[in-house]
Amino acid sequence: MFGPWIVLALAAGCSDADFAAPLAYEEQPGMTRELEGKSHLADKPRIRERARAVMAELYGPNPKEIHVPEGAPLSADESGVVGGLLGNFVRTAEGPRKLPHAGGFALYRRHCLHCHGLSGAGNGPTAPFVFPPPRDFRRGLFKFTSTPTGARPTRDDLRRSINDGLEGTSMPAFKALLTEEEVEQVVDYVTFLSLRGETELAMIEEGFLGEDEDPDALEDDIVQDLLSVVFGKWEDAEDRVVDPPTPRTPPSPESVLRGRELFLGRTKEKLECAGCHGPKGRGDGQSFVPPDVFNRVVFRGDPSKMDERVALLDEPTRELWKQKLDEWGNPLRPANLTVPVYKGGRRPIDLYWRIAKGITGAQMPAHYPGIDHDQIWDLVNFVLALPYQPDLLDGPGVAAEPEAVAEAEAARR
Ligand code: HEC
Ligand code: HEC
Repeated sequence: MFGPWIVLALAAGCSDADFAAPLAYEEQPGMTRELEGKSHLADKPRIRERARAVMAELYGPNPKEIHVPEGAPLSADESGVVGGLLGNFVRTAEGPRKLPHAGGFALYRRHCLHCHGLSGAGNGPTAPFVFPPPRDFRRGLFKFTSTPTGARPTRDDLRRSINDGLEGTSMPAFKALLTEEEVEQVVDYVTFLSLRGETELAMIEEGFLGEDEDPDALEDDIVQDLLSVVFGKWEDAEDRVVDPPTPRTPPSPESVLRGRELFLGRTKEKLECAGCHGPKGRGDGQSFVPPDVFNRVVFRGDPSKMDERVALLDEPTRELWKQKLDEWGNPLRPANLTVPVYKGGRRPIDLYWRIAKGITGAQMPAHYPGIDHDQIWDLVNFVLALPYQPDLLDGPGVAAEPEAVAEAEAARR
């Protein structure tokens, strides 16, 4: 009903033995549960059934039978077939055609599923044992992008996370393990899971506004509109890349000192970096719960009983705890900037992106246009220098150098 989609299915008898249990996507909570203050279909059984049917038709009923909705922003091979998603076979008008590669789903199953889960919900069997937890792909939100906060990532952003991993987390680097072609297929599969999850969420939100008796609820045109919005965001990503208009300022001592003043909130822009990252950059600023409290809750005890430990905190600390969760509801910690470990990459441009446009979903705010590009480069230079010059933020050193700062300011003008 939504035009021709491409159906990919495992040809009979092919590697089915890998699946011991029936494979089913898991639904997002809003499909069935009442969620306070959020859209849900708990009391809309007809709309829910409609949403389920649409999901199965658009994306396939289960992970072994993949449908690709027309116009989905995935890569296609020369013949226009979205090739890399599943197994070795793609079903075409002429019958099943063998593909040269294992396919995105097979690769995902082997390398990613145990952390990111079958539906991309970030809840594979390994997930409870790692912190931070693996990403839930289903909202289309990614932290380490070259695009503005909340915008979708480019293919290059996803490629980079997969090739290089996220340093300091359990997310491994796959560059040595996967060929370039395989990485492309895995990028497609991650995108597929995101599109699928976002479509499901969009239907929950739309259905929540409708009457369960309304026969037109989630009718085809509406679903088509929802899909265009979901796909449009991914299609726009490439055009939204934030490119610094000025090249990096050379990392001179003056630039580093200017960056330090910005970091400490001593310029007229009054930046809050230190409030989160701490006056010494150790990731212990006052805006977050103290590190010892954080460590006690997150690491001392059964991960599945974290809520019980949160309940034991005194009330102000508990409130602060709740405000400082990330978008996915997980505990969050500002980076310790005294060690040179950066999840999103250590190149100056990576840090430029982090500071200019923030980290989606992780409370690190965008700083452009509040400060200009040169100031961002000064901050990048400061951040890159700090681990190797720990005294940059050491008590007297900081206060005793106003002349140097004044000189640096003068040099800048
Ligand atoms: C051992 C567990 C583990 C495995 C295996 C794993 N990941 Fe991850 N992945 C993570 C964690 C943890 C994060 C989130 C880290 C964070 O939020 O700071 C993550 C985040 C991501 C992100 C999001 C990056 C961003 O910008 O937000 C992508 C994309 C991703 N993983 C893809 C993959 C793919 C593809 C594979 C398989 C080829 C894979 N991961 C395998 C643990 C894993
Ligand atoms: C409101 C709190 C907040 C403010 C303000 C803030 N940050 Fe962050 N920052 C965070 C959090 C939280 C993280 C960790 C995100 C994560 O690990 O997912 C982070 C991470 C970082 C990282 C690590 C990026 C990476 O790839 O791992 C750098 C560098 C950084 N911030 C620099 C800065 C600078 C410089 C400023 C001021 C211009 C600043 N931050 C302001 C909260 C903040």
